[in-house]
Amino acid sequence: MKEQLNQIRLNAEAQLGEINSLDKIEEFRVKFLGKKGELTAVMKGMGGLSAEERPIIGQLANEVRTFIESAIEEKKESIEKSALADKIKAETLDVTMPGKKAKHGTLHPLTKVLNDLEDIFIGMGFTIAEGPEVELDYYNFEALNIPKDHPARDTQDTFYINDDVVLRSQTSPVQVRVMEKQAPPIRIISPGRVYRSDAVDATHSPVFHQVEGLVIDKGIKMSDLKGTLEVFVKKLYGDDTKLRFRPHHFPFTEPSAEVDISCFNCGGKGCRFCKGEGWIEILGCGMVHPKVLKNCGIDTDIYSGFAFGIGLERVALFRYDIDDIRLLYENDTRFLEQF
Ligand code: DAH
Repeated sequence: MKEQLNQIRLNAEAQLGEINSLDKIEEFRVKFLGKKGELTAVMKGMGGLSAEERPIIGQLANEVRTFIESAIEEKKESIEKSALADKIKAETLDVTMPGKKAKHGTLHPLTKVLNDLEDIFIGMGFTIAEGPEVELDYYNFEALNIPKDHPARDTQDTFYINDDVVLRSQTSPVQVRVMEKQAPPIRIISPGRVYRSDAVDATHSPVFHQVEGLVIDKGIKMSDLKGTLEVFVKKLYGDDTKLRFRPHHFPFTEPSAEVDISCFNCGGKGCRFCKGEGWIEILGCGMVHPKVLKNCGIDTDIYSGFAFGIGLERVALFRYDIDDIRLLYENDTRFLEQF
């Protein structure tokens, strides 16, 4: 029995040396010290010993038990320590590693063009006004003197929410909203999103942007409109740019005109930009129709004014030589990063 105990001790020592996980230690403990363990089995057999042998073997068995128990504790500690060391090592931050660069965004070409446009008009004393994109038929059409049978009112052109509410098809309704609220003098621009029931192609989008302009004051004349637009166009496209006013019709202005600028690409000779014309149409404008002024409660004996509407996408496409409007809305960073 003595040998058995010594053997157990030797076995335990040898096996413990190979153990490297807490799970294995538990297995080991059960194997030697558990209810059915090797040492327990020996101790159970002590009943058959003589009175002289029993205390000797008993003491030895206790020594072996103590030995195994403290060996287990030591092993546990050392495993825990080395696990902690491994963890610390794995989590060390190598400050010499190259970092991950955060990508810088760029302003969208439409935003850039709008910023430029706003700067130019703010420089001339304009302020910025806003209006709703979901608009009453009254503001989008009625108050602007657009008759009931006007083609723009067709459901093929305008998105109707119901009979009285539309997605605004132009920024012109902001003119009316401003004139209703504010007494002249008025000098505002109003940039924003507009909606038309158009199919998408290289030059059309059902959602696009306009910048509306409105000036109301005493003695405002067509020459003020021309002067203002001339400053705007020269600031945007360069001092050599020429303007051409073509008679046109808009229900809310009288007289009305469309404005062309000399092609900034060829200077007027004709190229693919201007489709050989030498001129590029950039906006609609006119003197605010007396009916519109009256609709807004403005005294036409005292006040007059002009208005204009610019398509923002057109300005951006020309400015950056982009040949497809869809590129502006696809959010492809390979495209957007170029501006
Ligand atoms: N609202 C017009 C359109 O969408 C553009 C326009 C033309 C606005 C003449 C004006 C203007 O203020 O005077 O086609």
